[in-house]
This record gives sequence, structure tokens and C-alpha cells, in this order.
Amino acid sequence: MEKGQLLYEGKAKRLYATDKEDILFVEYKDSATAFNGEKKAEIAGKGTLNNRITSLLFEKLKESGIESHFVEQLSDHEQLVKKVDIIPIEVVVRQVAAGSLAKRLGLVEGVELARPIVEFYYKDDDLGDPLINEEHIELLNIASKDEVKALYEKSLHVNEVLTKFFKEIGVILVDFKLEYGRDEAGNVLLADEISPDTCRLWDEKTKQKLDKDVFRRDLGQLTDAYEIILSRLGGLTQ
Ligand code: C5P
Repeated sequence: MEKGQLLYEGKAKRLYATDKEDILFVEYKDSATAFNGEKKAEIAGKGTLNNRITSLLFEKLKESGIESHFVEQLSDHEQLVKKVDIIPIEVVVRQVAAGSLAKRLGLVEGVELARPIVEFYYKDDDLGDPLINEEHIELLNIASKDEVKALYEKSLHVNEVLTKFFKEIGVILVDFKLEYGRDEAGNVLLADEISPDTCRLWDEKTKQKLDKDVFRRDLGQLTDAYEIILSRLGGLTQ
């Protein structure tokens, strides 16, 4: 597959065209950003780790009947994905109080929630990705009622599968963010990435943070944490 023109460069990935109309080439970068781009660093090896972890998780979800845009991992830092039109909504699922939920509602970090909570954020860097509800989504006209229902249901299904999967490798899935796109037929398809950049992952026994909070809160070497996740998932770390 030929790597064509650069179509888009985000904070963590670059998207290129390929010689196939409906397939894109994704390149994972080594850049780390937090707090809406206020904190930045280049961390050698991060792109490779996220590419491998995302590829493994999308494959795992597929085995459980959850389709995504993922086609195949091509190399250490590259994968092929189906072309979708990204819906500008970040769907966050939470099972344990942490991050912005703990701050907003005054909850103690680490307290288990009685049931999973689904939140929607408007994907807009200039606005700082504000929390929105279904009425805001209707007002902004960024997704239909049926699509919102699909985002909600699919995200809870992903939560169920990933929670079980991470539990098997001694990791608590605290919360995570998903993005979706519309394929050519207009179907809502899981997209973007699922990695320690987009999930909070804690060691079940020690509660050690194995995700981007290591970078956000200066808790140590980010790649050490991501390598623990990749090796427990059964992927090679070298
Ligand atoms: O910061 P907050 O607590 O709202 O984040 C919830 C979850 O969503 C975390 O796992 C975080 O890594 C992820 N997230 C993300 N991208 C964002 C915002 C949050 O991956 N833009």
C-alpha cells in the first residue's frame, strides 16, 4: 500500500491518503500533550507503544464482535484504517472516580462508581472540549438522536469487553475516551485509538498508574508504564 499525501496532523498522529479511496495510513507520533496542549514533550518510543497497544485492543474488540476502523498494523508506528468522517464528540466512560469527574463533582479519586457513567464532550480545541449533553448535541447538529444512542450503547459494550480483558491482566480500567466516525454508508464506526493515552489504567494490586497521568502529573517515565501495559497484553516491547 502506497503512502500518499498528508491529509491531517493531530497532536499524536498523522493521517495520509493511500492508493485506495476508502483506506488511510496512520502514523503514530512520539509527541505527548496534556491540558489541551499546554504541556508538551517528545517521548521516544511512545508512538510505537500506542500503535501496538491500539492494534491489539482493536483486534481484541473485533473478536468480541465490536467493529472499528482498524484494518491492520503495518509497522512499529504505522497502521491502516478505514476512512471515516469523524463525529466531533468524545465519548468518555468511567467506572472509578478520577480526573475531571473527581474534580467537577468533588469525589475522592479511586472511589468505585455504582454503575458506569457515559459522558459526551464537544471535540473543539478552541473551546477546550466542553462537556455537553444530548440537547447540546442536537443544538450543534453534530449527531442525530439515533447516532447518540449508538455512541452510548457501543461505548458501554466496549467498556464491558475491555474491563474484562484488562481484569485478566491485573489492570483496572478506570475510565477511557472513544471517538467514532461515519463510514461511506453512514454507519457509526469506532475510530481513533485506544491506548494508555486515552485510558486510565491502574495496576490492580498496587494501584500504580500505567497511563498518561504519569506524564500529566510527572510520576515517572511514561514509556515504562506503557511498556508494562503492552507486555501484559502479550505484545513485544522491543
Ligand atoms: O480528563 P478526564 O478525567 O475528563 O478524562 C477522562 C478519560 O478520557 C481519561 O482516560 C483521559 O485520558 C481520556 N481523555 C482523552 N482525551 C481527551 C480527554 C480525555 O483521551 N481529550
